[in-house]
Amino acid sequence: MIKHCLFPAAGYGTRFLPATKSMPKEMMPIVNKPLIEYGVDEAIQAGMTSMAVVTGRGKSSLMDHFDKNYELEHQIQDTNKEPLLDDIRSLIDSAHYTFIRQREMKGLGHAILTGKELVGDNPFAVVLADDLCINESQGVLEQMAALFRQFRCSIVAVEEVPESETHKYGVIAGEHLSDDLIRITDMVEKPEQGSAPSNLAIIGRYILTPDIFDILEETEPGKGGEIQITDALLKQAQSGCVIAYKFKGKRFDCGSVEGYIDATNYCYEHVYLKGSKVSINKSSTKKL
Ligand code: G1P
Repeated sequence: MIKHCLFPAAGYGTRFLPATKSMPKEMMPIVNKPLIEYGVDEAIQAGMTSMAVVTGRGKSSLMDHFDKNYELEHQIQDTNKEPLLDDIRSLIDSAHYTFIRQREMKGLGHAILTGKELVGDNPFAVVLADDLCINESQGVLEQMAALFRQFRCSIVAVEEVPESETHKYGVIAGEHLSDDLIRITDMVEKPEQGSAPSNLAIIGRYILTPDIFDILEETEPGKGGEIQITDALLKQAQSGCVIAYKFKGKRFDCGSVEGYIDATNYCYEHVYLKGSKVSINKSSTKKL
């Protein structure tokens, strides 16, 4: 069983300035929940109980969100607004939360390496919270955790993207084991336009075996002068096995304004309105 889930959350979120000037991008709401809460929910549904967040300066609201707020609890106790806290209370009670600061911005690989102290010598999941994944019957991490039990190696979630978009992602190539599983033989971080090895882009869900930390320690800065998880995973694929999985579900790039709006519209209709507490939400959110 995978117990740990790592959330790299130290980035500046510059694409959403000025909204992210003093608020972490992971706290931007999709309808009534911050982005990171969707990721934590997905991890808990997959059976994970240890949430490890890699933060940076100005990110203390992430810590506060996953802690009790006694003043607020006291204020809304026994009012019709109290059920609005049910979901977050349940997430707080279902897992424990640890935080570590990434002091230098040296890329996603470096952020993951910073989380080593929190994760230890265990396989772990990684969630990039600005990729919001929705599958109402089985979350993407749960799908990947089941594959991990089968393959016992690192797994990355991939999605087909138009060729014109491949330069925004890590892109993989390899041998198809089935329609939705590929054994990776090549991986390139943000390839130049026209040079991608395929149109299969890595999205922000990974399961990593702990030997990735040793590899990351040896990984030289790559694209953009940053330590890239894609480069470390290619080494792991070449010396062992890394599987790419075409996940089932929808994914929204909430790091872009268009993706954020699409996610908001989709979640309003398919998550918020379908939620069990909708009548309470509707009547009470107006007054909040
Ligand atoms: C990161 C990874 C990239 C991956 C992407 C998914 O890039 O480096 O390989 O495809 O996340 O969202 P970023 O979007 O942080 O630049």
